[in-house]
Amino acid sequence: MIKKNKRPSLENIIESEDLFLDILHPGGFEITRELAQLCHIGKVINVLDVGSGTGESAFYLVRNFNCHIIGIDISDRMIKKAKRKAIDHGVIIQFKKADAHDLPFKDNTFDVVISECTTSILDKKRAIEEMARVTRSGGYIGIHDICWKKDTPEHPKQKLAEIEFRKPETLDGWKTQFEKVGLIDIMIKDRSSLIPEWEINISEKLGLLGRLKILLKIIKNWGIGGLRKVMESRRIFHSHYTGYGIIVGKKT
Ligand SMILES: C[S@@+](CC[C@H](N)C(=O)[O-])C[C@H]1O[C@@H](n2cnc3c(N)ncnc32)[C@H](O)[C@@H]1O
Repeated sequence: MIKKNKRPSLENIIESEDLFLDILHPGGFEITRELAQLCHIGKVINVLDVGSGTGESAFYLVRNFNCHIIGIDISDRMIKKAKRKAIDHGVIIQFKKADAHDLPFKDNTFDVVISECTTSILDKKRAIEEMARVTRSGGYIGIHDICWKKDTPEHPKQKLAEIEFRKPETLDGWKTQFEKVGLIDIMIKDRSSLIPEWEINISEKLGLLGRLKILLKIIKNWGIGGLRKVMESRRIFHSHYTGYGIIVGKKT
């Protein structure tokens, strides 16, 4: 449910049960598959998913790429949901509560570390450093996330940071973040068309009545001021300033 005690943000609506979403990123399994392929996830590969949410990508990767995967997330609710689903599906995946800024794993533990639509909420430098630390030499670090277009002025950047606590980079900016921690062979892929497609999918799934219910819940819990913030944030996400991209790098 959209919670009164949480701040008004699109993030909190998406993560609430009200949108009935299990995959909390644009592009669904399609972008997860592309990320997995770019990171060379395959048989007997140890993978870490940072900010694993409800665990959907972890289940998808285990089923389709036959890898071993551990999911970590800071949210008790997400971990509980993912664990419950693992039991329901009869799949052995470890979901662990942990902070992406301080991963509870030794150096060089994983072949691949992925993170979907999460890094821009984090202290990017610290989080990418941590992902690189726990990846073995020759392994891959791959994320997909929001990115700014090159001509984005300061105002939408400030607003998104204020409302969503998100601080994306441009695609080149993400590449620089990867380079800063010593990653090599960095690939960037622009997947900006996924944002409008995601919005359309969600809208169609909810229908007019569903959308109206969400609107009323937002006003009931967060007031008109809260609604304004959510609308502002939505406007930024759908402006031509906001894109989406995949970034993959290799540890030396
Ligand atoms: C937009 S959701 C993406 C979830 C999932 N990766 C997906 O694509 O469906 C962001 C996730 O990051 C998690 N998260 C936020 N801050 C975190 C942190 N410091 N450490 C670990 N997870 C975090 C949230 O709880 C949430 O599940």
